[in-house]
Amino acid sequence: MLAHLLHLEGIDSVVLEARSREYVEHRVRAGVLEQGTVDLLREIGLGERLDREGLVHDGIELQFAGERHRIDFPSLTGGRRITVYGQQEVVKDLIAGRLQTGRPLLFEAEAVALDELEGDAPAIRFRHDGEERELRCDLIAGCDGSHGVSRESVPAGVLRPFEREYPFAWLGILAAAPPSNEELIYAYSERGFALHSMRSPTVTRLYLQVEPDEDLDEWPDDRAWNELERRLGMEGWTLNTGEVLEKGITGMRSFVVEPMQHGRVFLAGDAAHIVPPTGAKGMNLAVADVRVLADAIGAWYRSGDESGLDRYSDVALRRVWRAEHFSWWMTSMLHRLGGGDPFDAKLQLAQLRYVCSSDKAAASLAENYVGLETV
Ligand code: DHB
Repeated sequence: MLAHLLHLEGIDSVVLEARSREYVEHRVRAGVLEQGTVDLLREIGLGERLDREGLVHDGIELQFAGERHRIDFPSLTGGRRITVYGQQEVVKDLIAGRLQTGRPLLFEAEAVALDELEGDAPAIRFRHDGEERELRCDLIAGCDGSHGVSRESVPAGVLRPFEREYPFAWLGILAAAPPSNEELIYAYSERGFALHSMRSPTVTRLYLQVEPDEDLDEWPDDRAWNELERRLGMEGWTLNTGEVLEKGITGMRSFVVEPMQHGRVFLAGDAAHIVPPTGAKGMNLAVADVRVLADAIGAWYRSGDESGLDRYSDVALRRVWRAEHFSWWMTSMLHRLGGGDPFDAKLQLAQLRYVCSSDKAAASLAENYVGLETV
């Protein structure tokens, strides 16, 4: 996304992707695009397949105490909505867009280290085609995820980490089954959280709260379906089942480093921050980061004005912390918390009832979910 935004400003870049094209185009990840993410993809001319295949949603449902309640987005947010479109589909569209520009994109090019971050010509050492190579550039965007080398290359003591662990994880399932409900369902239950989502009219995406160190082998398909039925089941409603196409465990963590920059390296997305998936914010935050960064880089090349670059971290972190709070809040409201303390459960139910009975409380959830225009 950053490379494309820079391309549109006439700025060249080299994209180094550690994995193969095949891998990144098929790895199953998140699926919810905020209104602003969709608008940006359209604006930069990469929204054509998204408009054709994306599933536009006007709300979500919250389920607890045997009832489902719909939160309607457009009426609560001045017409904003979300689109369900797999992250790997966004990745495919971005790759196709990049290849069309003719500018460089290297697959299986693994960055090993960043050097001379404090000088005018920082370097990336990377492995490609069996050789170690060096790329000198004006600026480095560290978009290499939470285990990448970018954050690790910043000298010790510069970045301050903020962290929260959760005593659970998600088991995610992709199944060849038509979605069982129009909308996403976020279900709070005594047995733990469950989420019903989808990818297409024939593919369902489902998640279950499980133990943090859960072993995937403990979850044969029939156990997963059974547990989904128990947590999501309602009178008169059927959970559609089908062949399980993919199954995996997703950890839950909140993490931020401040600042998101040092010298000539600018961290974006998971390299700088992680949110638990309950608020559907991860990919959207990464896109929001590089939008700020692209504007700052554009201004610097146009006029030599460094102020946008200097402010990058402060500006990006405002949205990051808002999303950190929202993701923590959704996570805390919807999961069975450690130990199953009855006081916690009463508070969670009181909060869920409030969100579903007060338009003002519902509007707060809705505006965060579809993505705030300003933070
Ligand atoms: C999906 C993932 C999420 O984390 C979420 O909150 C909603 C939907 C999904 O994969 O469809």
